[in-house]
Amino acid sequence: MWVRHLTRQISGTNIIFCFVYIEDSLSTLVPVLDASMITWRRVTALWLFIWLLSSPTSTLTVHATTTEAMKNMVEKVRSMPSRFEKIAYIFNELSYTRGAEIGVWKGDMARHVLGHVPSIQKYYLVDPWKHQHGWNKPFNKNSTEFAVVYAAAMSATDRWPDKREVLRGMSAEMSSRVPDRSLDFLYIDGDHTEQGTRTDVLHWWNKLKVGGGMYGDDFIDGHHHGIKFASTGVKTVITKFAKASRSPLHDLGGLHYVVFKVR
Ligand SMILES: C[S@@+](CC[C@H](N)C(=O)[O-])C[C@H]1O[C@@H](n2cnc3c(N)ncnc32)[C@H](O)[C@@H]1O
Repeated sequence: MWVRHLTRQISGTNIIFCFVYIEDSLSTLVPVLDASMITWRRVTALWLFIWLLSSPTSTLTVHATTTEAMKNMVEKVRSMPSRFEKIAYIFNELSYTRGAEIGVWKGDMARHVLGHVPSIQKYYLVDPWKHQHGWNKPFNKNSTEFAVVYAAAMSATDRWPDKREVLRGMSAEMSSRVPDRSLDFLYIDGDHTEQGTRTDVLHWWNKLKVGGGMYGDDFIDGHHHGIKFASTGVKTVITKFAKASRSPLHDLGGLHYVVFKVR
């Protein structure tokens, strides 16, 4: 518990996995002969862990995102039925502190994360909340409806005025308001067309710290909302991006994904 507390203080991202990773690695090197070996292994792991914490963390987080512990976490999340539960569970496990949701609608995800992930200090809400000419998706409402949707998003998150930061505008324009490499997570849930997904990834990936994760919904391609709406291209774009950037991609189930930033 105190290790978790310590890592939260120092990095706020997923350094907790480094301790698990070091211990795992030592356990393959040092076979357990009796109970005292376990204590020595833990003490050595702790010593290495603290020593590594005093060096730049990028190498640590790279390892962290590839550990068995991370894979186990993803496996566990895959069986959870609710997207809110999946996201809050991972964000808590990784002690995330700062992130952005692209495409907020009525603020249901924002409310859930702010209410269930106590480590969050800053949550950017990015959405124009306005009708977009040419965006042929079911969430494109008229201005009267969007006024109601915006009010709902504000009331869903007004319990956390110091944590939320509302960036009302298109994702490509609002990204300049967020410092590069400052975020632990992105939750991309705005324009799911192929072009829209590409735009979001291009403008937001650089906002993530090494060790952070880009999450999103609608990990699927095709006419997911029916033939009268524009086709979704999230799966193609995210899969190609993960491959090209050599970043681990995990399907979290329920049409959710995560791409970890490891370099
Ligand atoms: C599927 S809803 C978001 C649902 C929300 N993430 C949740 O979990 O409850 C899509 C939202 O994306 C917004 N949106 C569409 N295009 C966008 C863009 N280019 N930048 C930011 N937001 C966008 C829409 O205004 C709409 O509110």
